[in-house]
Amino acid sequence: MKSDSPKTFHVKSFGCQMNVYDGERMAEMLGAEGYVAAADGADADLVVLNTCHIREKAAEKVYSDIGRLKRADGSRPTIAVAGCVAQAEGAEIARRAPSVDVVVGPQAYHRLPDLIARAARGEKAVDLDMPLESKFGALPKRAGGQRPTAFLTVQEGCDKFCTYCVVPYTRGAEISRPFADLIAEARALVAGGVREITLLGQNVNAWDGEDDKGRAIGLDGLIRELAREDGLERIRYTTSHPNDMTDGLIAAHGEIDKLMPFLHLPVQAGSDRILAAMNRSHSVESYLKIIERVRAVRPDIAISGDFIVGFPGETDADFEATLDIVRATNYAMAYSFKYSRRPGTPAATMDDQIDEAVLNERLQRLQALLNEQQQAFNEATVGRTTRLLLERKGKLDGQLIGKSPWLQSVHVIAPGLKIGDMVDVRIVSAGANSVGAELLMEAVA
Ligand code: 5AD
Ligand code: SF4
Repeated sequence: MKSDSPKTFHVKSFGCQMNVYDGERMAEMLGAEGYVAAADGADADLVVLNTCHIREKAAEKVYSDIGRLKRADGSRPTIAVAGCVAQAEGAEIARRAPSVDVVVGPQAYHRLPDLIARAARGEKAVDLDMPLESKFGALPKRAGGQRPTAFLTVQEGCDKFCTYCVVPYTRGAEISRPFADLIAEARALVAGGVREITLLGQNVNAWDGEDDKGRAIGLDGLIRELAREDGLERIRYTTSHPNDMTDGLIAAHGEIDKLMPFLHLPVQAGSDRILAAMNRSHSVESYLKIIERVRAVRPDIAISGDFIVGFPGETDADFEATLDIVRATNYAMAYSFKYSRRPGTPAATMDDQIDEAVLNERLQRLQALLNEQQQAFNEATVGRTTRLLLERKGKLDGQLIGKSPWLQSVHVIAPGLKIGDMVDVRIVSAGANSVGAELLMEAVA
């Protein structure tokens, strides 16, 4: 039996930063409806599984997570499955897992309270709409949080249709949120203590809109406007598509101090033949040209990327070409994945699917190279003086962990300082995943 009218809730988000943002917005909305956040799912009356469908056996994982929500005494919470698995699987989830009360897609979660009420009346509540009215208008206004950093979704969805990817199907078409809404949300976050905002979108650099004077602007224009906000110290954005790296956005990296020197620009593969089969609509050469131009205006910029190994038909030579583009780009960090066959995508039915053993071997070789580059990047920053935004406590006494402009995690012993402070440091040591720093004198902002 589920408990009847939920009072406490827990939202568990998987997958990308957009999902993390959606999870936060759901939590804020449930809070505004009078629910109280529970520390974890074990004793919450309502559990929202905010799922990801991008890779692996995501749906299977959701079913096992649902099973684990059953308690020793046979009771269970009200269970809502949200996110991209909900969108992809739909009502099938509630059929296969009868304990699921609510299924809600990523564009409909503003209706969660209503769906929960329907579930409390014993209905199975399924909402996979991609309504024209935006969920953002229906969500409660943001208040900022306890953290000094925040995500702000500015764009959603994807019109690119890479042949391996489910996002165009689960998140729908590209839409940009209006300029005025974004400025208002950013101001609310800053008023609540946020000092760094990361603008989010599946294709964040495809954002477009009109500024307050009715002029058409792109993401660079939005960043310029946000950079005028007092109290907002740092701006980042992710994830970008190479084809939407406009001249203006590239130039912005050389002109806007608050725009951090970090660019996540996935290339996925280093062979033009595979890029064409992936429907990426850019080439190795055009990608490398963008990197060169960004580095020309911002020489210290840290480049990050995403890679897929073992796309159908990828030969040894194609894979070597991926290693070549990694060497040519020199990444500060990167994410790499084995190709995962996603039902409903064009690549899933392509010939020449690659053996698991080959996928494993290629992933290992790619990751070894990327790890080497990350270590080298971190080592190259040793000796630099820079500014940190302190984000969380470290394990040692007086230790705090912040982010450098290049998105490195930086450990520093900083007694008397607190989360949210900005501090000047010198980087003194480098590891694979983080660097160590010392405070400079008179460092506190
Ligand atoms: N298989 C493996 N990786 C994938 N990605 C997207 N779809 C797949 C897939 N079917 C990766 C891409 C993308 C990142 C978010 O996830 O690298 O940039
Ligand atoms: Fe996962 Fe992509 Fe959906 Fe994000 S948008 S939750 S990465 S499938």
